[in-house]
Amino acid sequence: MTIHIGAKEGDIAETVLMPGDPYRAKWAAETFLTDVKLVNEVRGMLGFTGHWNGHRVTIQGSGMGMPSLSIYANELISNYGAQTLIRIGSCGGMQPYVGIRDVIIAMTATTITSPSAGIFREVNYAPCADWSLLRAAVDAAHAKGTKTHVGGIYSSDVFYAERPDLDEQMVRHGILGVEMEAAELYTLAARHKRRALAVLTVSDHLQTGEALPAADREQSFGDMVEIALQAAFADA
Ligand code: HPA
Repeated sequence: MTIHIGAKEGDIAETVLMPGDPYRAKWAAETFLTDVKLVNEVRGMLGFTGHWNGHRVTIQGSGMGMPSLSIYANELISNYGAQTLIRIGSCGGMQPYVGIRDVIIAMTATTITSPSAGIFREVNYAPCADWSLLRAAVDAAHAKGTKTHVGGIYSSDVFYAERPDLDEQMVRHGILGVEMEAAELYTLAARHKRRALAVLTVSDHLQTGEALPAADREQSFGDMVEIALQAAFADA
């Protein structure tokens, strides 16, 4: 048990998928895993452990934003021994060729700041995905035929942004999409020598204003979960 996770020692698998939304954790566990057990409900931040193709997996909600994700990822890594952490979540598309429902696999995540920013002082550290996971996720996405983009994303601190000039620079510099968690996950994984990746579904688009209809969300998010699971166990 930790401050924010009520799971007993051994209740958490070495591989953890982390959606922002705890109810998406529940849905993904019930849809893709067998022998599912609820392992955390502290603050309603649901976590489940089960099996996928014989492999043990935990799906633990991270909450929204880097400070929240940082709490869960730190405890999963330091107290429960999580080795592979994959964020599954939604993002806003930023490039014109990135469509709603497309999947983005984040090679790097740019930030203004993150809970880890203080330790880098004048350095603009470049949080980077684990290569083995990245390659396996791209292979899985291509095998599935999912329209997928691989490149840099922007991990923002705000959903309701007040800096259109900043979005413009992100677009100009090839950033594929915006979300609010990946940069801190990549930084923590690097610090603790764990593997991390973010596989994201484009749920809305900053330029077109288009958004994924609620009814279409499950199928689109399902592709992302399967890509993450296949990537996690590609070498197993
Ligand atoms: N901004 C930030 N985070 C997001 C967005 C967005 O437009 N869409 C999904 N997550």
